[in-house]
Order: sequence, then structure tokens, then C-alpha cells
Amino acid sequence: MSIRRIAVLTGGGDAPGLNAVLRAVVRTAERLGGLETVGVLDGFQGLLEERYLRLTSTEVRDLVRKGGTVLGSTNRTNPFAIRTPSGGVEDRSADVIANARLAQFDAVVVIGGDGSLKIARELGERGLHVVGVPKTIDNDLEATDYTFGFWTAIETATDALDRLRDTAESHHRVMLLEVMGRDAGWIALHAGLAGAADVILIPEIPYRVTAVEAKIEERAARGQAFSLVVVAEGAAPEGGTASYVTLDAGDGHPRHGGAAERLAHDLKPHIEHEIRWTVLGHLQRGGSPNPFDRILATRLGHRAAELAAAERFGRMVCLRGGHVVDVPLAEAVDRIKRVDPAGELVATARAIGIGFGDEEVSDPADA
Ligand code: F6P
Repeated sequence: MSIRRIAVLTGGGDAPGLNAVLRAVVRTAERLGGLETVGVLDGFQGLLEERYLRLTSTEVRDLVRKGGTVLGSTNRTNPFAIRTPSGGVEDRSADVIANARLAQFDAVVVIGGDGSLKIARELGERGLHVVGVPKTIDNDLEATDYTFGFWTAIETATDALDRLRDTAESHHRVMLLEVMGRDAGWIALHAGLAGAADVILIPEIPYRVTAVEAKIEERAARGQAFSLVVVAEGAAPEGGTASYVTLDAGDGHPRHGGAAERLAHDLKPHIEHEIRWTVLGHLQRGGSPNPFDRILATRLGHRAAELAAAERFGRMVCLRGGHVVDVPLAEAVDRIKRVDPAGELVATARAIGIGFGDEEVSDPADA
């Protein structure tokens, strides 16, 4: 078989750099003997409804710096479990595969997070020629050192902390910043380090309100009448659960929300400071990708097109030790990467006096 047409789709929540991947796929494909690229609109939904957009260098011009995805995305369409109007669920995977054949897609590049890549793997097992590109601002996929979008999200969160510091200091307040990340604390940990947070609460280290309070009091005793606390959306108190808006958001995941607000309420009776909380939310997902994410996205898109052209299906591109490599999709999904509470990053943060809400011991620098 020789490859003539590659389809590409973006699934799940968007991340800065998606468009840069599309651009790299199209430009690489064109240079690999004039392969055509077709964009599938709105993720797997577009494959089900045969909604496509022909992509050439013209359509992807300038996309390296554009946030979001020009193809659209959804995290609600799983072809193996499509909700019917009567409230049931049906398997439409065979339709998706038939549509791809009809459209003469010789390969489908799926750019997605764990959920979309799992679907890609299963469609691959049923005969669709898939290549995966990992994506999520959460950076929680074990298979890759970094996912594109992560460092742009860190920049956004760090900028938010810098701004909050100004107003926290002026008003002698405790400012809580809730960041995304689901069950992994990567965004909170990195933004907290970069933005000089005083306390970082992550899902991997259950916190005690008394320990957060102790850190704030300790700073106050030192004349630092304000504190910055980064709260990962998945952070949970010892013996408690994370805060959710709903346990079933319709995409196979619960929707987090309320972690900072809960902490504010729990802290209030114990400290004299005024407390304010900010939920950074989807600001972390939008915006122009930073140079690191543009370059990573370009490298991954390029390699994905090469894999498709070489008929190396069922694989996922990723970054390992600074190198772009590819691994079997089957190995790549279902393996979530979480922060190691005993790892070097957490140890460094602790060593410079950042609290994780798990120890009441005082900072020797304050003695
Ligand atoms: O996985 C990316 C992510 O942004 C998470 O950090 C967050 O919990 C979730 O998606 C939000 O999803 P939605 O856009 O569906 O609200």
C-alpha cells in the first residue's frame, strides 16, 4: 500500500500548540511526495458525520502561533459509546472506520490526550491506520517527558501569580490561585516554583489546613504579611476527597472545581488575614503557544506525518530524554504520570522553604 491521503483530527480539551502540529503534519506530508492532508472537524464527531476540511500549506499558514485548534475539538464523542436520544449508548466504531475508508484516508493522525488516544488505539485494533500525538496541558502522560501546551500554561499561571503577588502584598492578604491539572500536580508545582508561591497544594500530597495556616503565620511572624498559595484543582485534604463540580462530565472524567474556595472557607476561622481566591480556569488552555511548545508541536507533527507515510501505524510520537521517538500506542495510553512526592522538584521546593501543606514544622530560616 502506498500512502496518498492522511487525515488529522484534534480530540479532547484544546492545548496551545495544536495548530502548530497541524501545520507540521501538512507541510511534512506535502514534502513527502505530495501526500494530501485532510482535517477532520471536531474530533471523532467529524469522522462520524463525515465533516472534513482539505488542508494545504495555504490553510496552515501562520498557524504556528495560533492558540486553540482550527479543526475544532470535543471531548464528548467516543465512537464506542455514542449516546442515543433515548438515553442509551451505542457502538458506532464500525461507522467511523467505514467513513475513513470511504474518504480514502490511508492513515489517521489523532492528536489527543489519554481519552482520545485510547479511542485511537481501539480503532487501530479494529483496523484503522492510526498514529497518535499526545496532547494535554496537564503533562500527565507517562510516555512523554512533556506534552505541548504545558509550558504555555505554566507561563500563564506564573504571570497570574506575579500579578496576585502585587495585590496580595499591597493588601496584606492571602491569595489562593486554583490551577488545572486533574489528578496530577504538574501545573501547580511548576507554576508555584516559577511564581514563588509560599505553599503549593497538589493531589499527590494530601494537605492539612493547620499546616497551611502554620506556614502563613510563620511568614506573618517574619513580617511577611501576605502569602501566595497555589492550589491544584485536584488537591485534597488528608482523609478527604478532591473538590468536584460533577462526578460525570460526560467525557469519562469528573469535572474538578472548588478546591481553592473550599480551602479559603476552611482557613478563614484560623487566620486573621483576608483571603481571596482566583480560579485561573480555561485561561490556561488558550493563547499563543510559547516557543518551547511551538517547537515541540512542530517536531511531533513532523514525526507523526513521517510515521504515517512510512505506514508505521499503531504508534505514538513522544519526547524522551529530549529526543522525539515513537512507541506503541498500546503501551502509551492508560499510564498517567503523577508528581513524585519524594522527587527532586518537590525536594527543591521544600528546601527553599515552600510548604506543601503536610508539615507544621517551622522553617529554620525563620528561627
Ligand atoms: O485535561 C485538560 C484539562 O484542562 C484539565 O486540566 C481540566 O480539569 C479539564 O481539562 C477541563 O475540562 P473542560 O474543558 O471539559 O472543562
